[in-house]
Amino acid sequence: MAMKRDIRGELSGILPDDLVGLVPRSFDVIGSKGRAVAVIEVPSELEPYGQAIGEALMRVQRNVQGVLSKGTERMGEFRVRDMRLLAGDPDTEVLHKESGCVFKVDPGRAYFSPRESTERENVSSKVAPGERVLVMFSGIGPFAICIAKRQPTAYCVAVELNPDAHAYCLENIRLNKVGDRVSAVLGDVREVCPKLGERFDRVLMPLPKGAYEFLDTAIPMVKSGGVLHFYHWAPRDDPFSDGECILISAAEEFGRSVEILDRVRVSQYSPSAWKIRIDARIG
Ligand SMILES: C[S@@+](CC[C@H](N)C(=O)[O-])C[C@H]1O[C@@H](n2cnc3c(N)ncnc32)[C@H](O)[C@@H]1O
Repeated sequence: MAMKRDIRGELSGILPDDLVGLVPRSFDVIGSKGRAVAVIEVPSELEPYGQAIGEALMRVQRNVQGVLSKGTERMGEFRVRDMRLLAGDPDTEVLHKESGCVFKVDPGRAYFSPRESTERENVSSKVAPGERVLVMFSGIGPFAICIAKRQPTAYCVAVELNPDAHAYCLENIRLNKVGDRVSAVLGDVREVCPKLGERFDRVLMPLPKGAYEFLDTAIPMVKSGGVLHFYHWAPRDDPFSDGECILISAAEEFGRSVEILDRVRVSQYSPSAWKIRIDARIG
């Protein structure tokens, strides 16, 4: 049986021996079997070897045609990294396939994380037939499209601020043939949502960095008895208290009750912080 080649093995003899161990073994691959881009975090000690690392990665993972380095943390309102091309094709727009959906994206222009596919599946599985769903901070559309594919009688409205992400969302709606059950709106949720003229059975807030600042927009969008999916960054040792407190006091401002339905650790954000989701029925 052929052994899967390892990026560190590929770089031994190319990088100084004492640096090979610093090369990350894991990286994100976005795309398909035919054409993908990889996004890798290169420690500062390895920066002079960025091209060699990118080329080695393409040798071990043959479908990767371009390698981007996470130049910075996700920044600003659009939550996009300042990426640097280490090697390969500078055209880093790809078609990513997951759970029967296809997403066109350039990870340098819009937020997309292939690691969140299970989360998208988990939330989509909660949507009942006929529900009307608001996806705030919708990015290139993965939540809305995943819901529309899984629950064809549901209807989703997706609101996004980044014009590049919104353009990809429109394209992804077309590629997935869900134009009859997803509509995408470009703009700030604070301005767009109050003008939508309806309340929703379910509202998603997939912006862990700062969703709490938009609860005053989100809560009035939930029908009485509807469900809010609130994302938050939280300390590892007490992941839910802070988010629950914030959510309950925001709802009180509108005279709305909160019944906590579920508390989920979605993923580890850093050694001390988790990305969490609180599902709540808003009365
Ligand atoms: C963490 S990303 C999530 C994107 C998408 N939901 C996904 O899971 O791939 C958050 C998104 O919220 C968008 N955003 C930030 N502030 C916004 C606002 N005030 N109104 C609408 N969208 C906003 C960003 O541009 C970004 O695409």
